[in-house]
Amino acid sequence: MASIPQDFIDRLRSSTDIVSLVSTYVPLKASGKSFKGLCPFHSEKTPSFHVNPERQIFHCFGCHEGGDAFKFLMLYDKLSFVEAIEHLAARAGMSVPKRAGTGRREADRGVLMEIHRQAARYFRAQLDAPAGSRARAYLEARGISRETLERQGFGFAPDEWSGLLSHLSRRGIDAEAVYRAGLIVPRKNDQGHYDRFRNRVMIPIRAESGHVVAFGGRILGEGEPKYLNSPESPIYNKSTILYGFDVAKDAIRKEGSAILMEGYMDCIQAYQAGIFHAVACCGTSLTTGHARLLRRYTERIVVNFDPDSAGQRAARRSIDLLLEEGFEVLVLSLPGGKDPDGFIREGGSEAYRELLAGAPSFLDFLIRDASERYDVETPRGKAAFLDDVLPVIGKIPNRVERVGYVGPLAERAGISDQAVLSELRRHVETKAQRFQLPTPERKEIKLAERELIRFLVSTEHETTVLDELEDADIEGLATASILKTMKEVAASGELTSKRLMDRLESEAAKNQLTAILMEPSPLGPRQSPRDCLNGLRRDRLQRELSRLRRKLAQAADDDNLTAEILSLARRIETLGRVETSA
Ligand code: UTP
Ligand code: MN
Repeated sequence: MASIPQDFIDRLRSSTDIVSLVSTYVPLKASGKSFKGLCPFHSEKTPSFHVNPERQIFHCFGCHEGGDAFKFLMLYDKLSFVEAIEHLAARAGMSVPKRAGTGRREADRGVLMEIHRQAARYFRAQLDAPAGSRARAYLEARGISRETLERQGFGFAPDEWSGLLSHLSRRGIDAEAVYRAGLIVPRKNDQGHYDRFRNRVMIPIRAESGHVVAFGGRILGEGEPKYLNSPESPIYNKSTILYGFDVAKDAIRKEGSAILMEGYMDCIQAYQAGIFHAVACCGTSLTTGHARLLRRYTERIVVNFDPDSAGQRAARRSIDLLLEEGFEVLVLSLPGGKDPDGFIREGGSEAYRELLAGAPSFLDFLIRDASERYDVETPRGKAAFLDDVLPVIGKIPNRVERVGYVGPLAERAGISDQAVLSELRRHVETKAQRFQLPTPERKEIKLAERELIRFLVSTEHETTVLDELEDADIEGLATASILKTMKEVAASGELTSKRLMDRLESEAAKNQLTAILMEPSPLGPRQSPRDCLNGLRRDRLQRELSRLRRKLAQAADDDNLTAEILSLARRIETLGRVETSA
């Protein structure tokens, strides 16, 4: 980020129009002074995604994503800040100045992507070559059509020690870079490298952008390991990449849900059957990173894992995590001990879709899974059953939803709702203590904070009032980090919304700021910055006063305390009555 000069970024920003940028991705309609449309970052039916041309920012009132043109591209195309700059510069016909020795990481990512692109082409060609006949036969036997393998970009790594390496070397690619891409392995005793993937069907793994960033290689037939996967690299982070996501994301939005499967082949078979919203992890367990990726597109996940015990355990772990991340979770168990691949191949897509539509809530799965392990007819079994299930329920962030699950559990365990509820509380509390909930993030933003921020950043103003804002006034406020950063920005130059936005560190604060700036204020500010400051100060002193009064009530006669209270009360008087809440 530091590699591109700030003045270039500023110039680029002023030659970019966010409305025309966003409308190439999202249909927008004019609405008053701004534009609105359906939010691309969460699924919705009525538009709550606003773009404001005056401020050159966007904000969604549904999912609270917001920011400037750079941020939009970063979110939409999953670009880094530098990549977003490059994209916008290309669009504006500007060339990005780079200081010597910087941007190496980005350049390296570019090299690794290019290597993967060429490797995918090489593997693809090998599948059609005579040496690929066994692989073609294998795929055909698994019911994978010519069209599917072409669309998925399947390939074949021939049974050679350096087929790929020689191919890339002939094209002038450095072995060191191919090694960093994870496609070759060093020989012992520094004797060069050999191909990681040999005699395997090559399944390209793509990032959300559609670029190939890794491969999964399946052995033809039986053997170990069944799948060999690329290691992590600067472009491949297993805990944030989901197999099939690049193809599935639009379908996920359209269907209003994603199907989480266990294997590559499950997704591929689903894809071939026209079920496009399926994704899988690539040989790892589901992570928070995966969940957050999905969260941008849907709130509902159907978990459809293999029915074997490993699959069930993995399902259970994924369910826990997804619930914790606030998803609505359904669990599809296919009849006949089938995985999605096998079921779809035999039963067809209609049968699969039918079962999918009727997939029960995760609770059914949880209850069934736990009742198989514990005998709920005995008191000890009941307790073990609840101990197994309640920690999962306790993770659900929404209280109303959580409590909704009490009834079915009580019924299954044959005990009262009340008993289940009080046990459940225990699990929720332990969790709250562990993470020290409630977090201050959910605090309401006071009118005085909002007005102060909006007023000071929107037009040119004296910002001296900020000098008077003390840390203690700010402490504990919902917008504390914005106000603190505002002070810093004002102290080092002109206070503009753009400079402020750039300086904010957390995404939460950035989103807060765009939300504040987007609010319509047809009547102009209702309070002067001075009023706002006084209001905030007054609130703070009032809190302090209540604290001292409580203390006095316990301490009986304490002259010092009484004097302090009187002086505080007087200070509050002088600040006058100021409206601080909306
Ligand atoms: P499965 O064995 O269920 O995969 O493992 P699959 O896709 O159904 O395989 P087929 O149908 O027998 O070809 C699930 C996933 O676990 C990872 C892969 O991501 C696989 O898709 N895995 C499995 C590995 O990474 N390595 C292995 O050796 C096996
Ligand atoms: Mn399988």
